Amino acid sequence: MSQLTIQAETHSYDVLIEAGIRHRLGTYASGYKEVLVVTDDQVAEKYLDDVVAGLMGQKVYTHIVPSGEASKSMKRYEDILDKCIDVKLDRNSLLIALGGGMIGDLAGFAASTYLRGIDFIQMPTTILAHDSSVGGKVAINHPSGKNLIGSFYNPVQVLYDVETLHSLPEKEVRSGYGEVIKHAMLSDYDWLTDLLGLTLSNIGDQRLIRDLEKGIQVKAGIVEKDEKEQGLRKHLNLGHTLAHAIEAEVGYGEVTHGEAVAIGLWFAMRLSERKGDVRLPIKDYVNWLKMNGYPLSSIRSLQSVALLKRMKVDKKTLEQKVHMVLLQEIADPYVVSVEDEEMLTQLELFLKEVIET
Ligand SMILES: NC(=O)c1ccc[n+]([C@@H]2O[C@H](COP(=O)([O-])OP(=O)(O)OC[C@H]3O[C@@H](n4cnc5c(N)ncnc54)[C@H](O)[C@@H]3O)[C@@H](O)[C@H]2O)c1
Ligand SMILES: [Zn+2]
Repeated sequence: MSQLTIQAETHSYDVLIEAGIRHRLGTYASGYKEVLVVTDDQVAEKYLDDVVAGLMGQKVYTHIVPSGEASKSMKRYEDILDKCIDVKLDRNSLLIALGGGMIGDLAGFAASTYLRGIDFIQMPTTILAHDSSVGGKVAINHPSGKNLIGSFYNPVQVLYDVETLHSLPEKEVRSGYGEVIKHAMLSDYDWLTDLLGLTLSNIGDQRLIRDLEKGIQVKAGIVEKDEKEQGLRKHLNLGHTLAHAIEAEVGYGEVTHGEAVAIGLWFAMRLSERKGDVRLPIKDYVNWLKMNGYPLSSIRSLQSVALLKRMKVDKKTLEQKVHMVLLQEIADPYVVSVEDEEMLTQLELFLKEVIET
């Protein structure tokens, strides 16, 4: 078992990473009058019975939403609130978010607003959710953009059962490792080098636990210093400026968030070399992307003008200029603003590089 403690502004909470923890929930989620478990239909099919059985002896309700990003909506948020009211949850009740980042964000946002906030536990079931389950950002989407309605609201615990990760499809493993490798680039050259030798189709539990733990430590270290994203937390957007544009251009679902981030990291490394005095392991990184089947071909047909336009509507863009996180070197990120003209040139060069790879 691995245990980390995260110090949020409001309280500190533990992250426990352990195989099979879903069967022993009663030990951790005790002392509540009622428990509502919110999950998606794919996760429900596999793990909801175990979780309910693990809560034995408590009054447990369940609520299932369709899997997929489209459920991070006003409608599904309202449904959860209706359920909370229906089953009369009060301030001594607990909400458990069982699922990937979609469920964590949706159920976490419901927990943050129902009765001005009730306790909630994050039970991440994707690798990507090592990122989303800590740091306290919870949100739903608006038709005009992702995560536009939300709050900063930390869970009382994060319980990570690595056994649940065994059923993840390859695409979701790749997606999760996009954020893992981002955390390595932000923090540790040796860890990055080590990851660049990793074949994702063949990861053992020990390895996975170590990577999740290290990733969570990096994220925690940053959000503990800057919970509300006034400065330092922006570094977590490494790779994301292009990633968000790719997701929007290719269409959500075609390329997963973490896959897009992995490609965005390549662009960030390239731009870091062009704008600074640094040599980064780009060749090894691109080989790693190819070896692990990251969807490079899906961005070959994208246009630089369209990507730039997407970058500029991204809510993280200040004063109409595109802001990018770059690397002075591995583990030394900084933020720059890039003029449109320069960004267009850089995007064109990058797309050419991708096509030639
Ligand atoms: N709050 C934050 O700080 C933060 C950070 C990063 C991402 N996010 C959000 O996270 C979301 C993406 O999270 P995600 O990638 O986990 O997506 P997700 O929750 O949609 O899960 C991806 C897919 O995997 C399935 N799945 C989940 N667990 C499974 C399991 N154990 N076995 C088999 N299938 C499983 C789901 O049903 C879904 O189809 C986005 O909405 C993003 O905005 C939030
Ligand atoms: Zn991300």
